[in-house]
Amino acid sequence: MCGIVGYTGPRQAYPVILKGLKRLEYRGYDSSGVALLKDGSISVYKKKGKVADLEESMIGKNIDAQIGIGHTRWATHGEPSDRNAHPHSSSSGKLAMIHNGIIENYAQIKQELQKKGYKFLSDTDTEVLLNFIEDIYLNNDDCSLEEALRIALKRVSGAYCILLIEQDNPDTIIAARKGSPLVIGIGKGEHFLASDASPIIEYTKEVVYVNDYELAIVKPDELILKNLGNEKITPYITKLDMELAAIEKGGYEHFMLKEIFEQPSTIFDCLRGRLDAKEGLIKMSGVDNNIEQLINANRIIILACGTSWHAGLVAEYIIEEICRIPVEVEYASEFRYRNPIVNKGDVIIAISQSGETADTLVALEKAKENGAFIFGVVNAVGSSIARISDAGAYTHAGPEIGVASTKAFTGQLAVLMMIALSIAKHKKTITDDRYSALVLELDQVPEKVQAILKNADELKAVAEKYKNASDFLFLGRGYNFPIALEGALKLKEISYIHAEGYPAAEMKHGPIALVDEKLPVVFIATKDLYHEKIVSNMQEIKARKGKIISIITEGDTATAELSNDYFAIPPADELIAPILTVVPLQLLSYYVGTLKGIDVDKPRNLAKSVTVE
Ligand code: F6R
Repeated sequence: MCGIVGYTGPRQAYPVILKGLKRLEYRGYDSSGVALLKDGSISVYKKKGKVADLEESMIGKNIDAQIGIGHTRWATHGEPSDRNAHPHSSSSGKLAMIHNGIIENYAQIKQELQKKGYKFLSDTDTEVLLNFIEDIYLNNDDCSLEEALRIALKRVSGAYCILLIEQDNPDTIIAARKGSPLVIGIGKGEHFLASDASPIIEYTKEVVYVNDYELAIVKPDELILKNLGNEKITPYITKLDMELAAIEKGGYEHFMLKEIFEQPSTIFDCLRGRLDAKEGLIKMSGVDNNIEQLINANRIIILACGTSWHAGLVAEYIIEEICRIPVEVEYASEFRYRNPIVNKGDVIIAISQSGETADTLVALEKAKENGAFIFGVVNAVGSSIARISDAGAYTHAGPEIGVASTKAFTGQLAVLMMIALSIAKHKKTITDDRYSALVLELDQVPEKVQAILKNADELKAVAEKYKNASDFLFLGRGYNFPIALEGALKLKEISYIHAEGYPAAEMKHGPIALVDEKLPVVFIATKDLYHEKIVSNMQEIKARKGKIISIITEGDTATAELSNDYFAIPPADELIAPILTVVPLQLLSYYVGTLKGIDVDKPRNLAKSVTVE
C-alpha cells in the first residue's frame, strides 16, 4: 500500500520519479505527489487522483532538480485529497517526507505536538511523524536530522518506510523502514529508492534490500546503512533477475489481460528445472533440503490472505489426499490476533504473491516465535516473507502488476502441487503410478492453459450477456470449491458486482433463496469424482430458473445442455483441474469489468500490496 520513489544523482529527478510512480501505481492510486529540492528550497506538488492527474497538474511547473521524492497513496489516515496526499512538509518548511505504512500511536504524539503549538494541515499520521522528527531536530542542540529520526522512530509504533529530505542538505535522502518494503538501486554516481524494484530496473540491476529497523543515508555516490543503534551495516548487494519488458504492458490493453495470457509461460517457468516429466521426477531444493521436517510434520498450517488463501484451500485438499498430513488453512489476519496452538512439529506454509502482506508477515513472526518451521511460497524475490521463511519455493510468475491476482495464483497452485507430490513420494503415501501420472499431467498444464486462452472470445460473449447482473453465484465442489471462491472474488474486485462463492452442496442451506431468473450461477462442473453430484445441483438451479454458466470438460454434452452458456476446457486429473478452471473465470471477470468501463488494473479502493493491517 502506497508506493514510494526517491532519486539523488546527476539526472533530472522528476522524470525518474514520475515514471517510477507509474510503475508503483498498483500499490495505491488515490493521490500522488513529489517533492523536489533545488538551491536550498523544497517544492512540493501533489494531487488527488491517479499519477496521470499529477502529471497533468505539473505542466508548466518548474521541475528542475536532481534530488526528489515521490509517493502514490492508498489512504489510511484521512480521505484521498490534495492536502492528505504526500509528500508532507514540516512546520518550518525545512523538511519534506513520504511514508508508506501506519503510525499507530500518532494520536498521542499529535496531542503532545499540538500542546507545543504545532498546527497540522492534513489528517495524516505522516505529518505527525514528520513534525515529531522536526521537533526533536530543532529543539536539541547538536542533534543531526539522522539522530532526530532515530530518536523519533524509537518512540513510534506501527509500520513505516519513509524517505526524508532537508532543504539545507542538497543531495541527501534519509530513509528508514520497518514493516514496509524499501529497495535501493545502486547506479554510477546515483541512487534510486523505491518500494519495489520496478522503478529501478531500467537504470541498474544492483540493489540493496533494506531490512526492518535500518536507516539509509543516501547521497549520489555514497550509501550508508545503519541500525537504530547508530551502528554501520555493510549493504548486501543483490543482482536483480528481472527484465524491463516484464513490467511493461507489451501491447495488451491491461496488465491483467497480459498477465492472464502470460500463464502458459509463467506456469512453464515455474515447473522448469523442477519437474522432469521424462524421468517422472520433481526436484525442489527448498523441499528436498528439508524433507525430514516436511514429511514428519504433525500438521501443516497454511497462512495467507485473499487469493493466496484460496490457493491454500486447494493445497489443503491435495496435501490431505496424497500426503495424509492434517492441514489447516487460516486467514493470516485472524491467526495473528487469536491465540493459536502452534507446536514445534508443525510446518507453516506461507503463501504470498507480494511477500509483503502485513497480516501474513506478522502471523509468521508469531508462528516462528512458537518454534514452527516456515516454508514460504512467494512470488516476489527477496521480499520480507521470502526472507523470514526457513525455506521456500518461489512461484517465478514474474512481476504481477494488475491488482487482481491471476498468474501468481496459478503459479502458487503449480508450486503447491509440486510440494505435495514431493512430500507424498518421500512419505510413500502415493503409489508410483499415481505420482507419475500427476507429474505428467502437471507437465501438460501450460499447453492446456494455452488451449483455453485461444477461446477467450467465447467468454467475452458470455460477459456481454451478463454484465448488467447485480449478483453472481459461483459454485464448485471438492478441488474446485476454492476456485468458486476465487471466481467470485475476481468478479467482485474488478466489476464491482456482488458475487458469492459456495460449495455447490451448501447452496441448499441458504443461498438457493437468491436464485431467480435474473441470477447468473457459475458452476465449475468439470469431470471429476463429484461430477454427478454437481449435475444434480445444476438441475436444482435450472428448476428455479437461474441462469447457468458452466465450466465443463470438453465433450461433456450432457452438462453443456443443462447450461445457458458454457465454456469447455481440456480434460485433466481432478487434482490438477483447479489450475485450468480458474483461467476462464479470470477472463470472465476481466471482460465483465472492462465492458463496464472499469479500470481493471486499478479497481477502486484496492491496492496490490497490502502492507497495512
Ligand atoms: C486478489 C488479490 C488479493 C491478494 C491478497 C494477498 O486478486 O490479489 O486478495 O491475494 O491481498 O496478497 P499477497 O498474495 O501478496 O500476500
